[in-house]
This record gives sequence, structure tokens and C-alpha cells, in this order.
Amino acid sequence: MAAVAMVEDGMVVGLGTGSTAAFAIQGLIERVRGGLKIVGIPTSERSAKQAREGGIELTDFAHHTKVDLTIDGADEIARGSLDLIKGLGGALLREKIVAAASARLVIVADEPKLVPGLGATVPVPVEVVGFGWETTASRLAQLGARPVLRKSPDGAVFRTDGGNLILDCHFGAISDPAKLEQELSMVVGVVETGLFIGMATTALVATPGGILRFDR
Ligand code: A5P
Repeated sequence: MAAVAMVEDGMVVGLGTGSTAAFAIQGLIERVRGGLKIVGIPTSERSAKQAREGGIELTDFAHHTKVDLTIDGADEIARGSLDLIKGLGGALLREKIVAAASARLVIVADEPKLVPGLGATVPVPVEVVGFGWETTASRLAQLGARPVLRKSPDGAVFRTDGGNLILDCHFGAISDPAKLEQELSMVVGVVETGLFIGMATTALVATPGGILRFDR
């Protein structure tokens, strides 16, 4: 995988979450088995488990304040700006903390996720605290969203690694993602939003014709 080839000896590497990021972690595991020396900061318990079992040494922000390079997936990538919607896998809060600490954020995705503008195909996941989530949802609705409380496949309310809830906020096409991100973040009860504005430095998009690379 092209993103895995960007990782060098001595790096602190952010380990993303989701099915695409899991492929990248597997690629890193294979390189570590071949002698690559890195430490990883995982963005979810799932990714931590995969990395640990594969032999990647894990670290945290008590030991490293900066991440050299993070490889993560996305749910939508805006062509041009490389702004993102993330969090359909539920790990948006840790993903954003790791992304914010990263010198480079490399997004790996397949072609349908590369879109002209955000919001038309997926909702914006918004992580909220459990207390009073109903009133938080009505404030989000006032911003134009149709918020849906996320459930697990078994019907139970979905809880994030941080123990919070997710409201999947359907906006339709978003004309100004940066403004919306600010408005959502101002709502009391909101922990984090799945809008990642100005964070991705590179997107590697798999197409039938090969990998397309976009740099910001
Ligand atoms: C996890 O919270 C998400 O941000 C994922 O990175 C995103 O949902 C992409 O996941 P897939 O690679 O599984 O589509």
C-alpha cells in the first residue's frame, strides 16, 4: 500500500480506524516484521488490539507529543480542499486528536469517497455526551440537521471508546463545511464533530486505473 511505503524508521505513526485503515495497519505489521522500527498511537481500541497483536509497539501522548505521520480512512473526501467527513466507524474523537497532533495526515480511500462537496452521500457523525443528548439533538436540528441516534447492529445504543453517544446528522450537501464545523462545535453537549477541516495533507484514492494522489 502506497501510504505504508511513506513510513520510515524512527517515526511515531498514528494508526487510523476502519476497514481501510486496518489494511494499512496490516501493511505496517508486515514492515515491522521485516525490521521497520516505529511506535504507533492508535485511534481506537480496535486498532490498538490489531497493532499490538501484530507486534507494533504502541505509545501515547504522555511519551510523544507529536505524531510524524498518521494513516487513516475517511467517509468522504472533498476534491480540492481535502476536507473530510469521518466517524462512521465511531472513532472520530480519537482520530481527530491524533490528526491534530500529526505533521502529516495521509487519507486512504476508494474512489466513491472522493466527492465534489461534503454531505451529499453520508451524514456528519457528531459525538455528544449522554446526559441531555435529546436537548443537544434539538439544538443540532436548529442548525439544519436531521440527527439520528446511532445504534449498534444488535439494536443497543452505540457507545464510543470514550463512552459517549453519536448523533448522525444528515444535512445534505454542505455549502460551507468550515462554518458548519464551528457552529456544531459551539453546541453545548457536543464533544467533537466528524468534519475534519484543513487537516488532511495527502489523499491516496484507489481507482480501477491505479492510485490517485492528491496533496494539499
Ligand atoms: C472511523 O471512525 C472512521 O472515521 C473511518 O476512518 C471511516 O469511517 C472509514 O472507514 P472504512 O475504511 O471502513 O470505510
